[in-house]
Amino acid sequence: MALYRFLALFAVHIALLVSSCFAADPFVFYKFEVSYITASPLGVPQQVIAINGKFPGPTINVTTNNNVVVDVKNKLDESLLLHWSGIQQRRSSWQDGLLGTNCPIPPKWNWTYQFQVKDQVGSFFYFPSLHFQRASGGFGGFIINNRAIIPIPFATPDGDITILIGDWYTRNHTALRKTLDAGKGLGMPDGVLINGKGPYQYNTTLVPDGIDFETIEVHPGKTYRIRVHNVGISTSLNFRIQNHNLLLAETEGSYTVQQNYTSLDIHVGQSYSFLVTMDQNASTDYYIVASARFVNESQWKRVTGVAILHYSNSKGKARGPLPDAPDDEFDKTFSMNQARSIRWNVSASGARPNPQGSFRYGSINVTEVYVLKNKPPVMVDGKHRATLSGISFVNPSTPIRLADKYKVKGVYKLDFPTRPLTGPPRLETSVINGTYRGFMEVILQNNDTKMHTYHMSGYAFFVVGMDFGEWTENSRGTYNKWDGIARTTAQVYPGAWTSILVSLDNVGVWNIRTENLDSWYLGQETYIRVVNPEATNKTELAMPDNALFCGSLSRLQKPQDISAATAVTGNRSKLFFTSLLIMAALLSLFC
Ligand SMILES: *[C@@H]1O[C@H](CO)[C@@H](O)[C@H](O)[C@H]1NC(C)=O
Ligand SMILES: *[C@@H]1O[C@H](CO)[C@@H](O)[C@H](O)[C@H]1NC(C)=O
Ligand SMILES: *[C@@H]1O[C@H](CO)[C@@H](O)[C@H](O)[C@H]1NC(C)=O
Ligand SMILES: *[C@@H]1O[C@H](CO)[C@@H](O)[C@H](O)[C@H]1NC(C)=O
Ligand SMILES: *[C@@H]1O[C@H](CO)[C@@H](O)[C@H](O)[C@H]1NC(C)=O
Ligand SMILES: *[C@@H]1O[C@H](CO)[C@@H](O)[C@H](O)[C@H]1NC(C)=O
Ligand SMILES: *[C@@H]1O[C@H](CO)[C@@H](O)[C@H](O)[C@H]1NC(C)=O
Ligand SMILES: *[C@@H]1O[C@H](CO)[C@@H](O)[C@H](O)[C@H]1NC(C)=O
Ligand SMILES: *[C@@H]1O[C@H](CO)[C@@H](O)[C@H](O)[C@H]1NC(C)=O
Ligand SMILES: *[C@@H]1O[C@H](CO)[C@@H](O)[C@H](O)[C@H]1NC(C)=O
Ligand SMILES: *[C@@H]1O[C@H](CO)[C@@H](O)[C@H](O)[C@H]1NC(C)=O
Ligand SMILES: *[C@@H]1O[C@H](CO)[C@@H](O)[C@H](O)[C@H]1NC(C)=O
Repeated sequence: MALYRFLALFAVHIALLVSSCFAADPFVFYKFEVSYITASPLGVPQQVIAINGKFPGPTINVTTNNNVVVDVKNKLDESLLLHWSGIQQRRSSWQDGLLGTNCPIPPKWNWTYQFQVKDQVGSFFYFPSLHFQRASGGFGGFIINNRAIIPIPFATPDGDITILIGDWYTRNHTALRKTLDAGKGLGMPDGVLINGKGPYQYNTTLVPDGIDFETIEVHPGKTYRIRVHNVGISTSLNFRIQNHNLLLAETEGSYTVQQNYTSLDIHVGQSYSFLVTMDQNASTDYYIVASARFVNESQWKRVTGVAILHYSNSKGKARGPLPDAPDDEFDKTFSMNQARSIRWNVSASGARPNPQGSFRYGSINVTEVYVLKNKPPVMVDGKHRATLSGISFVNPSTPIRLADKYKVKGVYKLDFPTRPLTGPPRLETSVINGTYRGFMEVILQNNDTKMHTYHMSGYAFFVVGMDFGEWTENSRGTYNKWDGIARTTAQVYPGAWTSILVSLDNVGVWNIRTENLDSWYLGQETYIRVVNPEATNKTELAMPDNALFCGSLSRLQKPQDISAATAVTGNRSKLFFTSLLIMAALLSLFC
């Protein structure tokens, strides 16, 4: 009897220890050396931003609740910030890598990001957020896997493939920046890259000799999860794989109702996971295509990304014409209907075991409404600028979050208008006053002639409606209050609106911007400041020890003597690794 009790107690102890072992969220370390390399993706040598010598950068691959540590060394000749697009940075806008929250990492300096990917799963990407650098690369995929105990709403795929698509110029980002500063447009891109590579030579007139193209190797009969991200500058791309259905399964961290598409429009900044079954006879290889949308095809033929899907039993090269894109150059209704068809699977578990749909966004009362209206770039105070609601955002030299922390006055105004200003456009550091735990409705009204996508940091929002024309109060009658997709980047068609709902439960200072890089560069963004009025340290993490200082706080910044800093960090990390080892040893003893 005593023995049994002892054994039972022992078992309880073991169970407790094991659960506490699982409760300790593991750390995952990455080292990113960001530098220029010369590459010729379109056959013309040019300066490209690489990470650890690679273009595109490595894929970050972690699991929900992991603590991610990315040690960044800036080897560029300009300051740098890396932004983790779609990573929600729960309680820590300190790590968001945007000028509103972080001081830039000066050239030759190191900075270590550390954040927890809390309660998130899915497909995201990272990119450099300053100086138009994304146009030169520096991007890569970011995967957050589910914890093993939480089921995914499909059979475990046989492989996991990341595909980065985007428009590309042979001019480098400094040259592109100068063009925009001079008040000119960038013109037609020179091509579309797929995983940093130019098009397969499917047509000798259109594609010159000697271009290195991407090949995706697959096995017949297998099903792959293909994660596609549009990391480009401003071009909406239609993605398709010859003879293969794309079964849509996930969008920026939400599982969708699974539906087949022969092609899908992927707008700048958006991410999708498709399940693709290799069910063809491999009589040839197959084309993977990313082609520009809503453009005059005969002029844009050269601006088409083409990669190769190669079965291990393939009998020959891909040949013949590319599979067709939807034939609706001037009619965006097809594309909008396709966007509306992307819906949330309310019964699937997300990052947590409870169904996604248990957060019934449709029955929550909206507490604040913002109509954000963009316009094509205009001259403001003699500068070529882009506006949102009549305001072109000026980044403060002291980041907003840092200014709050150190009570620096006059850095920004909390007066972003709830409706677009009607007067002449202005340059302002005007920020949205978000109410903590409020439920905000944002109507994005695109008054430009170009496609835009809007992204919000810190949150996933519900896309509840979109339509052509001006939004009115009556438009609410068309909202999807049940299975609108939760995502981080929504498209807004020209002359149309998109409505999103967001629960402001994440304290911090969060960017809302167009992903169209030209318009973003020219000021089409703002921030939402969400402060918990209650004095507590529970709803926001403390400022990290390594926070950089700039602007009116630059006196607080210690110089980074690279050699000395290496020694100090060296010792600290040695200590850290030693304690990690001891911890690991202890855990392995007890677990
Ligand atoms: C970027 O492009 C500009 C203009 O073509 C050129 O002068 C400059 O050298 C380029 N920078 C690098 C590092 O290649
Ligand atoms: C939704 O998710 C559930 C639960 O995982 C799954 O069984 C179902 O097939 C999914 N439905 C669709 C239409 O994708
Ligand atoms: C990501 O890491 C997991 C192990 O944690 C591995 O099973 C998976 O294959 C990796 N995915 C990719 C795309 O490397
Ligand atoms: C290649 O493209 C050119 C220009 O669009 C076209 O005229 C020609 O027919 C194409 N060639 C083939 C073999 O398809
Ligand atoms: C999607 O298409 C595949 C064939 O490629 C088919 O086997 C599957 O049943 C389709 N799934 C849905 C949900 O339509
Ligand atoms: C393979 O499929 C293609 C297109 O579906 C068809 O034209 C061809 O005859 C098939 N080849 C074989 C060997 O079955
Ligand atoms: C598309 O471009 C071609 C070649 O420049 C031109 O001839 C044609 O008129 C254009 N089509 C439309 C509908 O603008
Ligand atoms: C929403 O507002 C309505 C009317 O103002 C009110 O009756 C209802 O209780 C509110 N619902 C919630 C969940 O607060
Ligand atoms: C911001 O909103 C809060 C309520 O959430 C309000 O108490 C405060 O006065 C507002 N601040 C400004 C400057 O409008
Ligand atoms: C822009 O707004 C004006 C005024 O509301 C409207 O007349 C015009 O049609 C809009 N244009 C687009 C492209 O939305
Ligand atoms: C929050 O933490 C800081 C130090 O990290 C401390 O000075 C302050 O008193 C704490 N505030 C509350 C409300 O606990
Ligand atoms: C900076 O990064 C380099 C290269 O990864 C590394 O060798 C060095 O130790 C780092 N220095 C600091 C201060 O972290």
